[in-house]
This record gives sequence, C-alpha cells and structure tokens, in this order.
Amino acid sequence: MYCTDNRKKIKVGDILDDKKSIGLYAASLVNDGDVVGLGTGSTTEFTITELGRRIKEEGISIYGIPTSFQAKLSAMNSGIPLSSLDEHDIDIAIDGADEIDPKLCLLKGRGGALLQEKVIDYSAKKFFVVCEEKKLVEELGKDFPVTVEVFPLAYRKVFNILSSYGKPVLRIAEKKDGPVITDNGNFIIDLFTKVKNPKAIENEINNIPGVFENGIFTSKCNVVFMKNGEIKTLR
Ligand code: A5P
Repeated sequence: MYCTDNRKKIKVGDILDDKKSIGLYAASLVNDGDVVGLGTGSTTEFTITELGRRIKEEGISIYGIPTSFQAKLSAMNSGIPLSSLDEHDIDIAIDGADEIDPKLCLLKGRGGALLQEKVIDYSAKKFFVVCEEKKLVEELGKDFPVTVEVFPLAYRKVFNILSSYGKPVLRIAEKKDGPVITDNGNFIIDLFTKVKNPKAIENEINNIPGVFENGIFTSKCNVVFMKNGEIKTLR
C-alpha cells in the first residue's frame, strides 16, 4: 500500500494502522541538522523510533528535545541525541492530539504531558500535529476533557473555579492510590465542557492562580492525518 501527499510517495508496506503510517510519515518531515521537539503518545512513538532508524541507517544528524519523560525514554532507546531549550531552538515539533477543530485548535493532555508539550510545541519554528481522522471534530470537548495541570496546594481553589466552566474531575492514578502526579510533580484536573472559544478559554484558565497550563492549544500548526489511505495535511 502506498500513501501519498503532494510532496512525495512513501511506501508503508503492510502497515495497517493509521497511527503507525502517520507517525512514520512525520519522521520524513525532519531534515538533516534539525532540532526536533519530540511529542508524547502512541503516534509520536512511531515517529521517534523512525527518527532513530534514520540516524542509524541514513546517517542524519539531529537533536531531540522531549516533551515528557516517556518521550525522553523512547528517544534514548532509539539512539536520538537529546538536547534542551537551554541549548537549542526547535526547528520542528511533532506531537499528537486528542481533538482538532476546523480552525486547527487542539485539545491535548490525555497522557498528562501538556505542560512540557505546550512549551516545546509553541516554541518550535514549525509545529506538526499527527492524528487519526476520527480526531477531527466540529467543536473541542466532544469526547475529551480540557486537561488542566494544577499546583497541588491550589487544588481545591482551582477545582471550585473550574466548576463554573463545566464538570471538573481530579484525575486518579490507576496503579497507585490517589491522584495522577505529572512529570512536574503536579495534579491534573480534567474539565468536561464544550469549548466555544478556544483562545479565550485557554487564556482564562491559565490566569487562575495555581494553574500551570491547560490542554487547549491555539498556536499555528499543521495537522497531518490519513483519509482513505492517503496522507492529508491541513494548515
Ligand atoms: C499527551 O499528553 C497527549 O497530548 C498526546 O499527545 C495525545 O493524547 C495523543 O496521543 P496518541 O498519539 O496516543 O493518540
């Protein structure tokens, strides 16, 4: 099976899964010498592995700046040299998303990595979002909550304020008692609500004292997804 876009044909062999096809395709967008923001999730996992292959087999030279501990581990396992925002600017960030609206605003944070993801994705010269077609929605909040990373000390105050926007729920860990703790030592509140005005809500929630970041992403991005076996890009 071949997947195509306007630029090139890529062979995806017997790959059946859209996530894998898109993840592999995204790795072809990286140029030799790039500093790459490495996204978090099951789709970018394929991108990271493929970048490792390109380093070994094609001899490209890149640095990766991970958006989470998971992405960092994957990069280390794939042989991608790591860097940081202290040392490099990012040429291209490749990250997943949970929902994308028609204006290419995103909901992210299912994996709890939203804080580092936003810092890295927003600072990249080019930002590519990789996703399956089913994640394209008419309005953010259809199937996923707005994820909010919260300083534990401020939990109750933030929770009460978020109640005026919808239904907030503290994210509970599956393999420990109590809440999920993020890579940065914070709690996550998932806010179930329809997002009518992404930019305004993104800013309003971030203005609540004790909120570090939320999962509404409104920076300029390109969205890569697969439709009827072909790679499509929205920008
Ligand atoms: C991580 O916090 C999330 O923002 C992920 O990037 C998002 O959930 C996409 O994950 P998948 O690629 O696994 O669908």
